[in-house]
Amino acid sequence: MDKMHVISGVKLNGEVSTSGAKNSVLALVFASLLAPGRHRLTNVPFLKDIESANLLLKSLGCEVTFANNELIIVVPQTLKYHADYEIVRKMRASILCLGPLLARTQKAEVSLPGGCAIGARPINLHLEAMRALGAELKLENGYVIGHAKKLVGAPITFDFATVGGTENAMMAAALSEGETIIDNAAKEPEIVDLANYLKKMGAKIEGAGTSTIKIQGVDTLKAVDHEIIADRVEAGTLIIAGAMTGGEITVKKCDPSHLDTFLKKLKEAGIKMQIEKQSVTVLPTDKFRCVDITTGPHPGFPTDLQAQFMALMTQGQGASVIKETIFENRFMHVQELLRMGAHVSISTNTATVHGEPGGLMGAPVMATDLRASACLVLAGLVAKGETTVSRIYHLDRGYEKLEDKLAKLGARIQRIKE
Ligand code: UD1
Repeated sequence: MDKMHVISGVKLNGEVSTSGAKNSVLALVFASLLAPGRHRLTNVPFLKDIESANLLLKSLGCEVTFANNELIIVVPQTLKYHADYEIVRKMRASILCLGPLLARTQKAEVSLPGGCAIGARPINLHLEAMRALGAELKLENGYVIGHAKKLVGAPITFDFATVGGTENAMMAAALSEGETIIDNAAKEPEIVDLANYLKKMGAKIEGAGTSTIKIQGVDTLKAVDHEIIADRVEAGTLIIAGAMTGGEITVKKCDPSHLDTFLKKLKEAGIKMQIEKQSVTVLPTDKFRCVDITTGPHPGFPTDLQAQFMALMTQGQGASVIKETIFENRFMHVQELLRMGAHVSISTNTATVHGEPGGLMGAPVMATDLRASACLVLAGLVAKGETTVSRIYHLDRGYEKLEDKLAKLGARIQRIKE
């Protein structure tokens, strides 16, 4: 298992580009199942999660070629419909094949993904949406077994604005009969990217990016080319790296409008930035304040940037109250930050950070999940001495060459292969 070795003391400097959005690709690759033919996705990051998705696509009968950030998926006329536990357990987003399979093959056998470190992550809302569209579903031996003679459009009201549930519902409804109206839909930029891809394929979708999405089902869809949007979580992580080290960096090829709440919080903290249409420049800032955040569905503060923001707050002046409302167990990084000398206390879903600029000390720490790994690497950039982050396979699930990008900005960071 590889480790990441970080030596602090460098103010990052220079330009870095954001890769394509992991969470967008994970929805789009499964949406491709809706149309036979050759799909071409560009700006696809090379990540472990994408490799897992590709394995699943191949097991369903697709031909997949992935090189130079271009992913070609050739979807056959006749798809298989069994998503095996051995693949699904590696990546929870595999559940996103449920809607497309029901719509395309009228059948699906999809392994239940199970819990993960950050929370139980049930799929009840996905199942409710499929049932609303007319699928009959049962749970058997750890699998969701579903069939539907024909999916029929229906009103779907989510109790919670679930990202994956909204995506599954959109994909299934796109290839159904009649009208579906999804209320309390998720509004994340990745939902809009999915809608844009589906629309290119011939789907009739209105309202993506708002809480009401209207879909008029069609009989067939066609294979198309599509460029993936920038990864807002990666962009946010790099911006924090610049801010924490007090350097001047420009994060290019990102969409600051996707990071509105996050950027407002940085400004409130006193971090100086120049925001352009497709880039954010972090200007040298000596001191900044701690500020409070509460994670929430988009356009709220993204839960996927909570851990990295906490690393930043350890270097601020004052105290920061960080409330996590999306996942019930997403403070796993706190134990490791404490080992580096951070002052953080937790009470249920709220963490209080007492900032101490320059107060962290390097230590051997362990990554527990994807964003926690990024938090520890960021902390390592400013912790006195050396930090070794183990179990960085979590990091490889969602960050494309993070160490190369940070090293290009001057960071003394190295992957240790084991
Ligand atoms: C997606 C993102 C993930 C991000 C999350 C929230 C992908 C591949 N992953 O995950 O990076 O952190 O959105 O922004 O896009 N829930 C239920 N029942 C359900 C579905 C969800 O109770 O059927 C709960 C979850 O347990 C969680 C909350 O709703 O507490 C949010 O989940 P959801 O928005 O569905 O996140 P994901 O799609 O899993």
